[in-house]
Amino acid sequence: MCGIVGYTGESRAQEVLIEGLSRLEYRGYDSAGVAIREDDGIHVVCRKGKVAELAHTLGHFSLTGTCGIGHTRWATHGKPSEVNAHPHTSCDGNIAIVHNGIIENFAELRDELALRGHVFSSETDSEVVAHLVEDNYHGDLVEAVRLSTEALVGSYGIAVVCAQEPDVIVATRKDSPIVVGYSAGDAGSAAMRGSFVASDIIAMLDATRDVVVLADGQIAKLTPNGIEYFDEQGRPCEVTHTHIDWDLDLAEKGGYPDFMMKEIHEQPRVIRDTLAGRMVGGRLEIDEFDLSPEELDLTDRVYVIACGTSYHAGLIAKNLIEAWARIPCEVEVASEFRYRNPIITPTTVVVAVSQSGETADTLAAIRDARVKGAKVFGITNVLGSPVARESDGVIYTKANKEIAVASTKSFIGQVVSLTLLAMLFAQAKGKLTTAQVRLLFRELADTADQVERILSDTDDIREAALACKDAKSALFIGRGIGSAVSYEGALKLKEISYLHAEAYAAGEMKHGPIALIDEGFPVIAIATKSPTYDKVVSNLQESRARGATIIAIATEGDEDIKNYADHVIYIPKVRDAFSAITATVPLQLLARFVALERGCDVDQPRNLAKSVTVE
Ligand code: M6R
Repeated sequence: MCGIVGYTGESRAQEVLIEGLSRLEYRGYDSAGVAIREDDGIHVVCRKGKVAELAHTLGHFSLTGTCGIGHTRWATHGKPSEVNAHPHTSCDGNIAIVHNGIIENFAELRDELALRGHVFSSETDSEVVAHLVEDNYHGDLVEAVRLSTEALVGSYGIAVVCAQEPDVIVATRKDSPIVVGYSAGDAGSAAMRGSFVASDIIAMLDATRDVVVLADGQIAKLTPNGIEYFDEQGRPCEVTHTHIDWDLDLAEKGGYPDFMMKEIHEQPRVIRDTLAGRMVGGRLEIDEFDLSPEELDLTDRVYVIACGTSYHAGLIAKNLIEAWARIPCEVEVASEFRYRNPIITPTTVVVAVSQSGETADTLAAIRDARVKGAKVFGITNVLGSPVARESDGVIYTKANKEIAVASTKSFIGQVVSLTLLAMLFAQAKGKLTTAQVRLLFRELADTADQVERILSDTDDIREAALACKDAKSALFIGRGIGSAVSYEGALKLKEISYLHAEAYAAGEMKHGPIALIDEGFPVIAIATKSPTYDKVVSNLQESRARGATIIAIATEGDEDIKNYADHVIYIPKVRDAFSAITATVPLQLLARFVALERGCDVDQPRNLAKSVTVE
């Protein structure tokens, strides 16, 4: 969602800010802006739309300031517009702020500030921060920011500049990440001297690898010569420095035309890395899931809570946990879970799944489940993320940074992690023998090679995409694990191609959705060899009889399926339990090819954000 960058140093801030904002584009946003300190005060330039448009506009000004802040905004309070874009300024224009998060008491604060004569120009919650800092400023920006945050209810990552302190940026946070770092510069390389702030490390990795992730309440004062840190009372404090050793290349496209394609191709590696080190002495071990063997055995109810694609990974897990471990498992959309008073006992385990580890709905559900007494385990891709911090234990998927807004490799990492969890429960409860677990583990590991094979020849998928590209709508169907896969296929297609898509358990077709079908209507079926294969084939026949164009994801060697489908995309034969991994990959590619045919930006679909930090 929103992104923050800031720089104070010796170089022109404009270029540094634009570079940083470009690195944050993957998070999704609808407007962007910068505030740069010039000799005559703070200059703010904002644009609705892409960072490139902001950069183009900035080209018309000759801002030479070396201290500034920038922001990409994803609209929550107030529509996407130049007026609502950050940075926001105080009435006198001497304070400019950028803010991530939500100020929950902004309406009260706004009323109070208005009574004191403040005039507001935007519809945002964030603007109150600029006015509060203005009110509290008496020659010390750190103190003004500190006092202002005392009045705030909600979540915030904030960076502030002030006309009276020309080289200073002050940053702080609560429940929204802020990272700072200093670079002494390097005459032999492009690294420039100065201090940097961002909401995501990726925005400043070019400049420095030694960073400080601010803790809630900590305040950083950045100057061109270094950074000072203060606690909530304004006293100097110690911080923990972290060295980032992952390479920026990871965040580059690595020769692929877009991040989505790169990330789809990384999936075999994700499977291998997620499994590495899990089989110890012939037994499955997940140390991070630190329930004793007795606690595992006593577990009598599992909830998986998640949103979007992560929720679909949960649907797959339900099949496996119930089939192998015989534990009732409910999968809940996180935004619903907390409002319906679920049954939680001391033997309930909650598994919260979130790629970003920042999703507000999932976080709220975690807090609620813990208050009710459940043990909560997070499955996330982001080290030290709120989901990781707020859970009793965390399993990291090994997907590495995912840039494309549409989740692909992180989904596969989640499915593999959840599959291991299902095996662990079954092992602990004695429902699967050690030999059975070993066999399953080997077959699960084989899916890495099988996905590689799928990726090596995508011609049939491209051809099937042509059959969908001009459709108004599409239907995805499957049964069992195939129905969970069809939900993910439909989500992927709609989010990046803007083609309306629905997913149904195939048996539900006759109860309504079949009315949609007419000549050429695309029906995408998960028709792999499974216990319900024949039933799916019947559903294909019913659809075809009404004119549907059938695209079947089928098992290699199944020649018969050609009698019922217009396009067949073959995938290697795997155990039904693992078919989610192999069957999802062609659907990711299908969505991407359709989106490209329709001229869509596959990495940054409209209206979507990479991490959804609002409830
Ligand atoms: O970071 P999370 O896994 O918690 O995100 C949940 C959803 O917002 C996310 O999966 C979303 O549906 C993606 N755009 C799917 O591609």
